[in-house]
Amino acid sequence: MTDTAGTGALPVEGVSAARVLDEIRALRAADRPTHGGRLFAYVYDPGVAGLDELAQAAYAESAHVNGLDPTAFPSLLAMENALVGAAARLLGGGPGTSAPDVVGSVTSGGTESLILAVKAARDARPDLAEPRIVVPVSGHAAFAKAAHYLRVALDPVPVDPVTLRPAVADVAAAIRPETVLVVASAPSYAHGVIDPVAEIAAAAAAAGVRCHVDACFGGWTLPWLRRLGAPVPPFDFAVPGVTSISVDLHKYAYAPKGVSVLLHRDPGLRAPQFFAYADWPGYTMVNPVIASTRSGGPIAAAYATLRHLGEDGYLRLAAVTRDAVAGLADAVRAVDGLRLLAEPGSTVICFTADDPGLDLFVLVDELTARGWHTQPQLAYAGLPASVHLTVTAAVAPRVAEFGPALAEAAAAARAAGPVVLPPELLALAGSLTPEALTPDLIAGLAAGLGLGAGPAPDRMAAVNTLLQAAPVRLRERLLVEFVGLLQRPAW
Ligand SMILES: Cc1ncc(COP(=O)(O)O)c(C=O)c1O
Repeated sequence: MTDTAGTGALPVEGVSAARVLDEIRALRAADRPTHGGRLFAYVYDPGVAGLDELAQAAYAESAHVNGLDPTAFPSLLAMENALVGAAARLLGGGPGTSAPDVVGSVTSGGTESLILAVKAARDARPDLAEPRIVVPVSGHAAFAKAAHYLRVALDPVPVDPVTLRPAVADVAAAIRPETVLVVASAPSYAHGVIDPVAEIAAAAAAAGVRCHVDACFGGWTLPWLRRLGAPVPPFDFAVPGVTSISVDLHKYAYAPKGVSVLLHRDPGLRAPQFFAYADWPGYTMVNPVIASTRSGGPIAAAYATLRHLGEDGYLRLAAVTRDAVAGLADAVRAVDGLRLLAEPGSTVICFTADDPGLDLFVLVDELTARGWHTQPQLAYAGLPASVHLTVTAAVAPRVAEFGPALAEAAAAARAAGPVVLPPELLALAGSLTPEALTPDLIAGLAAGLGLGAGPAPDRMAAVNTLLQAAPVRLRERLLVEFVGLLQRPAW
């Protein structure tokens, strides 16, 4: 019998459910391991038995429910309001607090929350022809994306190379009459450092400007860490002048992907976030967030996750994570030539190398080869290249193994030596402008680096070294071109 199923997404004859699932599982075998505590980016794993099954069942219950119309699907509205209430209460808002009128929306992720925070701020000032936002360079790249999408100018503020925080005076000086929003991170993704939120919010308030705290990463850990006794500075609605906060439930609330919450101190601040349209012959449309049709799946899964873990569950997970962070930091300190770029104050480990014989990008590859997946960060604006580790509770049982693996990987990286790219390639990367990149040049570069239509190479040190040699705008263009090579239709 001929196999009419092939491997494409649309076979001539449909294939059995069992076979499709087998195929997906076979594809998944090439992925980084989402469980097991050896992946320090992209996934947030509490390592709680049964939680995945619960979230999947809740997801399935609501997968076909549409968030387009809250009156048609009150179940979704109820769960969204419950998530917003929980996030607001955790972050210093709600009845009995100094921010009793907090409202919010559930979005698809941190980026959407940040885009909407910028949109709300921009649309609250229709009088401004050229609105601007002030963002420390350690702020998440999604603010630059928001600025780009919304045609808002971005005023970056440098961070101190030692504290990795912006100087409040620099933030204040960057605020202009056209500024609609000032941003602080709690903490920054790259380094896990909490900005001086109270001072930044005060500077914004003094200028009559909104202040958004990006707690996408830390909003669901810092409150628990504080309850456990950690010296977490004020960063939430308890701080006067903080007008909005974002917190991602698909990060440290351990919900499956697709859920973040954007909170505003009061309904008036949120109003310009919404989009309504009645000037067409179809249904009356009002969208609190960017998407119109939205699956109820991620929302139900997040609701189930929060209710199942509860405050006691999150406290316990935070304690486990805090101890894992301490153990990982010790492992870094124990390796000669490595240095913590920031003392860990939340759930990030970020380290750099002081020894030119120890190439961080090679080290990352050596760790990968040993089954440990960390995230390289390129040198930028006076900050050295670094390695980022997002630490989640599932890492805890692995901490004792990490130290020897890191020491071994560092020894192997030293023995291998730094990546050496041909000098003419490095010179090209340093001098090319994005406009000068031709398709032939891109194809040649990609081939030389082992990038193409297939899976990414096992070792990425050469790619990272080349990107690092390039100015920022060229880095961006190369990334676009390289990923464009990967995103090709499978026929
Ligand atoms: C501080 C911070 N803000 C925003 C984002 C963007 O979130 P997402 O990837 O969910 O869009 C992240 C993601 O890591 C983050 O750490």
